[in-house]
Amino acid sequence: MKKVLVIGQDGMLGGELYERLNNNPLYEVYKTTIETLDICNEQAVIEKVKEIEPYFIINCAAYTNVDGCETNFELANSVNGKAVLNIANAANLVNATLIQISTDYVFDGKLDIDKIYTEDMQTNPVSAYGKSKLLGEQNAAKANKYYILRTAWLYGLGGKNFVKTMLKLSSTKDEVSVVNDQHGSPTSTTTLCQIIEKVMELEPAYGIYHSTNEGFTVWSDFAKKIFELANVKTKVNPITSKEYKDMYPNSSDRPTNSMLSKEKLHSVGINPEKWENALEEYLREELK
Ligand SMILES: NC(=O)c1ccc[n+]([C@@H]2O[C@H](COP(=O)([O-])OP(=O)(O)OC[C@H]3O[C@@H](n4cnc5c(N)ncnc54)[C@H](OP(=O)(O)O)[C@@H]3O)[C@@H](O)[C@H]2O)c1
Repeated sequence: MKKVLVIGQDGMLGGELYERLNNNPLYEVYKTTIETLDICNEQAVIEKVKEIEPYFIINCAAYTNVDGCETNFELANSVNGKAVLNIANAANLVNATLIQISTDYVFDGKLDIDKIYTEDMQTNPVSAYGKSKLLGEQNAAKANKYYILRTAWLYGLGGKNFVKTMLKLSSTKDEVSVVNDQHGSPTSTTTLCQIIEKVMELEPAYGIYHSTNEGFTVWSDFAKKIFELANVKTKVNPITSKEYKDMYPNSSDRPTNSMLSKEKLHSVGINPEKWENALEEYLREELK
């Protein structure tokens, strides 16, 4: 059995990933939470990793409040950026493979919308969150063996997310305004867990892999699909990013184009499901 350390088990992705791996007879799974391991504490990270000697270390811990990162950049940079070096260095001490979860926000999102981002394209984060996560990628790449999985528009049972927000709003509102000019792939934590498990099984060439559900949409159409599948009558009023910014001036700028190519993932035999199917499965559980 390969030993696996899931860091950030108290988060939306980390919680589901831990449960799944723990039920997989191939792995002996260990977890840490923010209470048991602050990844900013270099010595504590080294001690934990040396104690377990995992084959895989999966870092699901992060400071994920995108708007909060703008006002707390030091904290964001410490957790999302600098702390990843602690994990990469510790991984090297025990020859472990690091799996780091990253984000579409490492790009500026200004690519023409008839094009999609491949892994080798120039990064240029515009938000504080994106900048801190890019530092995390650079530090993850200091591990001798690493995978950086860039995901986007993530939702899952165990955390705050867009799907839950829409469902909550629909219980009190007849109409919601949602942005219609930002393009990307809604991604369920279940699909991302499946991708991670496949990467662990196949161990393709180390490097960066774009890891989202298949297909692209805009937030307003994502909201419409949520309401359609959940049988909700609330109307979606599509608005532009500019109109949204006028309504919420303190919100951080979101990328217009967050469309990540999955060709590299396909080339190693990993084929995520279509976002609509993943959403349907999620809603079946969420609305039980
Ligand atoms: N959510 C998205 O839409 C999205 C999109 C693209 C990429 N991602 C990436 O996907 C990964 C998983 O995201 P998620 O949504 O599952 O995140 P999440 O639910 O916010 O979980 C992150 C966890 O990390 C913990 N944490 C924060 N600071 C820590 C520290 N210093 N030491 C140890 N743990 C710490 C958090 O604890 P507290 O809650 O107590 O702070 C939280 O439990 C992250 O790398 C994120 O950047 C997410």
